[in-house]
Amino acid sequence: MAHLLITGASGLLGGNLLMQAREQHLVTALYHSHPLQLEGVDIVGGDLSRPGEAVQIVGKSNPDWIVHCAAATNVDDCERDPETAFRLNRDMARLVAEAAHASGARFVHISTDAVFDGMRGDYTERDAPNPINVYGHSKLEGEQAVLEADPDALVVRTNLYGWSAQPKKSLAEWFLANLESGNPCYGFADISIAPILATDLADLLLQMLGENLHGHYHVVGGECVSKYEFGVKLAKTFTLQPDVIRSASVEIAGLAAPRPPRLCLSGEKIEKTLGIRLPGLEEGLGRLKSQRELNYPEHLKAMLRSPTAHAIPADLRPGPA
Ligand SMILES: NC(=O)c1ccc[n+]([C@@H]2O[C@H](COP(=O)([O-])OP(=O)(O)OC[C@H]3O[C@@H](n4cnc5c(N)ncnc54)[C@H](OP(=O)(O)O)[C@@H]3O)[C@@H](O)[C@H]2O)c1
Repeated sequence: MAHLLITGASGLLGGNLLMQAREQHLVTALYHSHPLQLEGVDIVGGDLSRPGEAVQIVGKSNPDWIVHCAAATNVDDCERDPETAFRLNRDMARLVAEAAHASGARFVHISTDAVFDGMRGDYTERDAPNPINVYGHSKLEGEQAVLEADPDALVVRTNLYGWSAQPKKSLAEWFLANLESGNPCYGFADISIAPILATDLADLLLQMLGENLHGHYHVVGGECVSKYEFGVKLAKTFTLQPDVIRSASVEIAGLAAPRPPRLCLSGEKIEKTLGIRLPGLEEGLGRLKSQRELNYPEHLKAMLRSPTAHAIPADLRPGPA
């Protein structure tokens, strides 16, 4: 059993990781503006972007591992407010990595497929990043800042979907809400991703901790699909009418940030390292459905102490990243 400090524990990945990790490890969960409650878990609130705060929190909890999921993740907000994007995705990441290094804790940094330009797809860890929007730039500079502060850090690039504790909707939750209400919505046919279910990613991250890995790893789903195909497969899994989703080009959406077209990453390195096969989309979506049947989303949402106190209005634009 190890002691994990999970930052961004109130977010999509952090919340799911918290649920998985607490089965095997001692966990300290850090939130910022969405207070948490969960029996058997040490909960801490804080703003990691404030100088000195990471050192104080890390020093007090003294974890073996820090999994840094906290970030500014709304791609269009990052485009409109680059100062905040770089402050959170680069500077905050550096502060937490420095605190980890100083305390002797191992550091796992969560990054994104959006460090690539998406012109080719199937990117390996050896391919040169070339971000095309502020979010991607800030996340890439975050990776570099982390590796400067802690050369032994593990940097995991991903793309994920799943159930979230917060009222704001992940891509899967957004499609599902529209499908279930029969509300017509668009799925981008010219944006491809290889998303992994948040709990599958959480399991793999926990497995990776045991292997003492460092450097870059792509941990994604085993299948590359357009956002439109993702929505249609989700509809089929939940036996809903897929016609509600209309195939469209991202061009019609007038989004603030440009979107890389083919963001699929190759997961070959992690598959070889762990001797595993990354889960395919149907497999992941099947688990997403089972989780709902087991009331997993309600359990996740119950973690939020006052879910409406800082509620962000339901984001009806497709996909956070
Ligand atoms: N979601 C995706 O599809 C996707 C795709 C590719 C990569 N990623 C990467 O995966 C990681 C996790 O993403 P996610 O979707 O789980 O994010 P998320 O749901 O947007 O959650 C972000 C988390 O960061 C915390 N946070 C923000 N500012 C903070 C601050 N100043 N101090 C401390 N905590 C702060 C938030 O806390 P409060 O809510 O309590 O304020 C929240 O828990 C990120 O690194 C992201 O770039 C995500």
